[in-house]
Amino acid sequence: MALFDCELQATSGHARALSYETAHGSFQTPMFMPVGTSASVKGVTVGQLNDLNAQVVLANTYHLSLRPGADVVAEAGGVHRFMNYDGPMLTDSGGFQVFSLADTLKLDDEGLTFRSIYDGTKVRWTPESNMEIQEQLGADIAMQLDQCTPYPAEKAFVAKAVDLSANWARRCLAAHQRPDQTLFGIVQGGMELDLRLESIRRLREIEDESLARGGRRFGGFGIGGYSVGEDHEVMFETLGPVARACPEDRPRYLMGVGNPTTLVRAVREGVDMFDCVLPTRTARMGTAFSSTGRMNMRNAKFTRDFGPLDPACTCPTCRNHSRAYIRHLVKQNEMLGGILLSVHNLHYLIDLMRRAREAVLAGAYEEFFEAWMASPAAKDY
Ligand code: GUN
Ligand code: ZN
Repeated sequence: MALFDCELQATSGHARALSYETAHGSFQTPMFMPVGTSASVKGVTVGQLNDLNAQVVLANTYHLSLRPGADVVAEAGGVHRFMNYDGPMLTDSGGFQVFSLADTLKLDDEGLTFRSIYDGTKVRWTPESNMEIQEQLGADIAMQLDQCTPYPAEKAFVAKAVDLSANWARRCLAAHQRPDQTLFGIVQGGMELDLRLESIRRLREIEDESLARGGRRFGGFGIGGYSVGEDHEVMFETLGPVARACPEDRPRYLMGVGNPTTLVRAVREGVDMFDCVLPTRTARMGTAFSSTGRMNMRNAKFTRDFGPLDPACTCPTCRNHSRAYIRHLVKQNEMLGGILLSVHNLHYLIDLMRRAREAVLAGAYEEFFEAWMASPAAKDY
């Protein structure tokens, strides 16, 4: 397969199995991607990521461009070399961070100005400069600069963000050059189906115009602006039509979503890729996903529980350590506790999506879905 070729290998209902080619190998969907914001999946070594079959690892343009600086990462040979991960990588544009972290954000027609969370210095981004930074970082997949709207939000405000994000998509696609990197567009539109469909129509139009000029196409489509505080059911009112309005021949990536049951349901609606800090963040707080629902490992009931963390799990943590030991580590704030739980939680979501893929390939996603929803693990939204 050629670089960035996307093969639709099977469908089962709306669920899909894709194989996608990058310069750092291919990845297969449905897939969960661990988040390594600052070129580090917190508490997890690259050796462990490889053992987990992590496939794509994320990093963030906002954080890396401020610390240590995109020039330093470029000098190291790019983000793969910098962190010594040889598999496919993706950088988010940082649009989400700018809008959620920055209290001193100024938007204008050309771009945006904000203050660094690290030292308060003024930073200026345009879609063009953001593409230059992501090309310096050198991930296999770059994301367009976009505006993610909060929830709830006035429809007129969301409509403006859709328009701005589309204009930035056009400028990102025109500016993006690196041949070994592809660019994903991002769909916005909040919880409004008509605005979401308009956002997708604009992205398709931008791509058609680019191709007509001999320019590039989008390598895939991010579905942004969900999981911003709305109830999960609110997202599912529009997610299916939104996912299926995206081009069928490329990945659909639901950004920032990581609850096990939400993943299982979103795959059924036609979503292919996910990322979230949830498995590693909750692990550091002492929470384990499990086949019987989430477990708070601080709970006294685990004090003398010498059985495995999750008897149904085959990860290194569950093969080697007891609930009593992990509870002890978490209670004592031993950093190994967060590490072991991070490995387990990542394995849990990566393996869940591996099994979802098996089900799609077998033409049996609906059976997989029904079995999941009937299991005690389905409580985990
Ligand atoms: N991560 C989670 N949601 C979003 C979004 O809407 N935009 C971007 N760029 N990243 C995200
Ligand atoms: Zn495990």
